[in-house]
Amino acid sequence: MCRSSALILALLQGQAFAHTFIWGVFVNGVDQGSFKGIRIPAYNGAPGQGGYNNSPVKNLTSIDLRCNVMGDVQAADTIKVAPGDNLTFDWHHDKRSTTDDVIADSHHGPSLVYISPDPPTENSFVKLWHSGLYEESTFPNPGKWSTTSDIAKNQGSMNVRIPKGLKAGHYIIRAEMIGLHEGEVSFEVNPIRGAQFYPNCVQIEVTGDGDVELPEGVSFPGAYSYEDPGVVYDVYCSTNTKTTKSTSCITTYPIPGPTVWSGAYAETTQVPLAQVTGVTTHPDWSTWIKKSAVTSATYTNKKSLTIVGSQAYTASWSTTYQTPAPNTKVGHW
Ligand SMILES: *[C@@H]1O[C@H](CO)[C@@H](O)[C@H](O)[C@H]1NC(C)=O
Ligand SMILES: *[C@@H]1O[C@H](CO)[C@@H](O)[C@H](O)[C@H]1NC(C)=O
Repeated sequence: MCRSSALILALLQGQAFAHTFIWGVFVNGVDQGSFKGIRIPAYNGAPGQGGYNNSPVKNLTSIDLRCNVMGDVQAADTIKVAPGDNLTFDWHHDKRSTTDDVIADSHHGPSLVYISPDPPTENSFVKLWHSGLYEESTFPNPGKWSTTSDIAKNQGSMNVRIPKGLKAGHYIIRAEMIGLHEGEVSFEVNPIRGAQFYPNCVQIEVTGDGDVELPEGVSFPGAYSYEDPGVVYDVYCSTNTKTTKSTSCITTYPIPGPTVWSGAYAETTQVPLAQVTGVTTHPDWSTWIKKSAVTSATYTNKKSLTIVGSQAYTASWSTTYQTPAPNTKVGHW
């Protein structure tokens, strides 16, 4: 197979996935600049397919579940915020634009936001917000879900507020969307299906003289299991209506992970957003794929896809805070 047809094959295989990630962060409605402070997911893929940019993480015991593939690689910038600030994460699929589809419209599921000191430690991720199934529907409609009916319909905006009085310091925000369209079975039971996780991390520095410490939280990986009813869930069986698949449908959706911390703001409000600054598209996928690294966890080298890269990458999270420096690792741009 020639190079270009191998590439086309890689692109076609990639179409099965949604590739959604955060392109920018607004603080109180002001854009901080495209990709600033964001640990851009590098590269991932289903076993045997060679991988693709930001395919979902499905392995619940992989370190990739923490901050996505190469999530240990710092962004050069950190976003400064104060307690009470309103953050809007700007999720997109192909381009940072209101016409972008944000996430494939089949990818029904919950959205979740966690915060942890940077770097994370054992049980350091605390949940700030989540939203799942918020309006039931009747078969064959899956109902209204946070990812497809809220975030995607609101041009990719996911909102969260920095907790009141939060102690100053460096934190990581782990924002996530989960696609449950193949989640009626676990990845452990059937690796070509299973829930699709799209975690993405943002580096923030909280300023001020707050004295509120985060409580004990959960670990990533660790917080989710293949037995969780919110991880193995049939979105098309979410109503009382009988479906062809099952006669006993669960009518409520239990969002994975812990409850939301009582110190988090109960309400998240969409604040008016100013103009986006900086780039609104990313480099062409073909250049990105060639430059990418691969993770040993998910990559199986296939002859036809050798152009995608040859380096195995093993995440190495520091246990102490490191001041971000310009990134020199492969796979990021
Ligand atoms: C999931 O990740 C763990 C930890 O990296 C690894 O040992 C295991 O082989 C992975 N499972 C699959 C099916 O890729
Ligand atoms: C965040 O949004 C809330 C609700 O709209 C508003 O009351 C608050 O003043 C905002 N915070 C800042 C720092 O602008």
